[in-house]
Amino acid sequence: MSLTTLEWRDNAIRIIDQTCLPRKLVYLEIRNIKGLSQAIKELKVRGAPALGAASSLGVYLGIKNSPAKNFTQFKNELDKVIAYLGSSRPTARNLFWGLEQARQAALANQDKPVSRIKELILQKALEIIKIDQQSCREIGKYGAELIKDGDTILTVCNAGILATIDYGTALGVIYSAKAQGKKIKVFACETRPLLQGARLTAWELLKNGVDTALICDNTAGFLMRQGRINCVIAGADRIAANGDAANKIGTLGLAILSQYHKIPFYIAAPSTTFDLNIKSGKEIIIEQRSREEVVSLFSRQPIAPEGVKVYNPAFDVTVHELISAIITDKGVLRPPYQENIKRLIQ
Ligand code: MRU
Repeated sequence: MSLTTLEWRDNAIRIIDQTCLPRKLVYLEIRNIKGLSQAIKELKVRGAPALGAASSLGVYLGIKNSPAKNFTQFKNELDKVIAYLGSSRPTARNLFWGLEQARQAALANQDKPVSRIKELILQKALEIIKIDQQSCREIGKYGAELIKDGDTILTVCNAGILATIDYGTALGVIYSAKAQGKKIKVFACETRPLLQGARLTAWELLKNGVDTALICDNTAGFLMRQGRINCVIAGADRIAANGDAANKIGTLGLAILSQYHKIPFYIAAPSTTFDLNIKSGKEIIIEQRSREEVVSLFSRQPIAPEGVKVYNPAFDVTVHELISAIITDKGVLRPPYQENIKRLIQ
């Protein structure tokens, strides 16, 4: 099934509105940065790589009508747009990478007319889309080598087509293994509180003919104990220089369970998710989200008593000691991560 999560079309960012899935496949056109920031906050567009493409296109949306006459004026506006979009969500490295790429495209061409710099920013954003498409295929290729015919894979959240442009990272590995003719089964953790596993991963895997079963998050340990999981593959929002990886809340628990049960635990992510400026996962800013997400089902039905305290971090950090390998677009990284990341990613 061919599906495009995000594209540049008719002077707008066209996205699949992920809050409508699995009920309806709805596309949304975003024409200004306010709309984009809102869509990012509400997870209409989400997943680290998709956020990288969205943020860079967002910079273009923010500056395309700029009346600036010279580079100094233009840069002033550019920096405001970048700061605004950067405040949408804090954890995904790609969102900031997309912004930095757009800024770099402007700085490297400051001698050119403002109208040309605008075009070059758009060009850079379109390149980012291509880079994502290519790197997901590479991740799929490298990752599929780790998967045997008949394997059953556990995954969490959505690191698939819907988190990238059109293929996925963790799910890209599954699509690639399937395309090689391997028979694969997947257990998808539902991923409370926003159910990206149930709503998005189960939806796209079924659409692509992957044998999929949905589990409540708290079923994972029991499945592993029964010997029914061959490996776990998760995506990442940000990976530190030592290999610590932030991903959807619950990923750390799966990694600890995997180690106990001696099951390989893999992270799949493009090189654009690595943040070599931070030494360890302790420096990763973890987004805190609203209490509403936990105390009610999509703000519709209350499932907790009014007034209860809530702690709702959107992500956790899996320490590198628990990660068997990191599948990247440049190859598969194994411990010792610090030096291997330096060698392969830098
Ligand atoms: O809050 P979300 O839905 O944006 O969280 C997304 C994840 O945790 C993904 O696993 C991660 O961004 C990697 S996507 C290839």
